[in-house]
Amino acid sequence: MTEEPDITVFHARPGDLAAFLDPPHVPTWTGGDSTRSAANVALRLVAAKTLGIPPANLVFSRNRYGKPRVSTRPNDRSPLHFSLSHTGRLFMLAISLHTEVGVDVEEIRRRRRFAEIASFAFAPEEQAEFSALYAEEEAEVFTAVWTRKEAVVKAVGGSGAELLDRFLVPVDALMHTTFQVRLDAGADAELVTVRDLPVDGLHRAAVAWRSSARRRVAFRRLRKTDLAPVE
Ligand SMILES: CC(C)(COP(=O)(O)OP(=O)(O)OC[C@H]1O[C@@H](n2cnc3c(N)ncnc32)[C@H](O)[C@@H]1OP(=O)(O)O)[C@@H](O)C(=O)NCCC(=O)NCCS
Repeated sequence: MTEEPDITVFHARPGDLAAFLDPPHVPTWTGGDSTRSAANVALRLVAAKTLGIPPANLVFSRNRYGKPRVSTRPNDRSPLHFSLSHTGRLFMLAISLHTEVGVDVEEIRRRRRFAEIASFAFAPEEQAEFSALYAEEEAEVFTAVWTRKEAVVKAVGGSGAELLDRFLVPVDALMHTTFQVRLDAGADAELVTVRDLPVDGLHRAAVAWRSSARRRVAFRRLRKTDLAPVE
């Protein structure tokens, strides 16, 4: 018997979603921001299916840093934790009924000013490691570290600017696909677990959850059966 995952991460492209919906329900996501629109439509339909309520009964709001949350009308039902990420023509959606999650996917872009970005977004220890890399490693390593850090920030739901340099993702740790991050917040410390997701050679992706507990993570392509019907 297959055990239910604690966290499911779906990956999809806007075209997948368009193919799943009847033409009258395909929103106008053919514009420049289509991946973002498709991701948010998928979020609503997956959340509705998971909670067993009509999509129109979901109400989305955000915390002061922009982290979205969902509640249900008329009575708020069991919490659904989720996180979205979109890049180019690919998006990912992580959901869990058990733990707060964060997901991040990024294209591996070769020509970026990595050292400059690291200088304001990474901790001094990470910057030192980063400056010791060979030029040909930079894009891959930067994107791997970046996606892990963003996944942690999104699980916690804080401000990227405030959190990104407050915890370490050492380059050496990249050889382990699952890794724990210690987040210090004054007297309190918190462990967040990050796991790389095997996406493809063009992207890097990671999912994080707020604890050191082991979690069963499923990573798969979105299917039509994951979506609630649109009324
Ligand atoms: C917004 C942020 C969560 C990252 O966004 P990003 O990697 O650019 O974009 P992604 O597509 O991966 O994620 C965007 C989604 O995250 C979610 N999100 C936004 N703010 C969030 C927060 N504080 N916590 C959790 N999730 C958040 C939303 O669902 C958003 O989707 P939406 O805009 O369609 O609603 C945030 O970490 C950030 O601003 N990071 C710093 C970015 C930075 O410093 N860049 C400079 C170097 S390149």
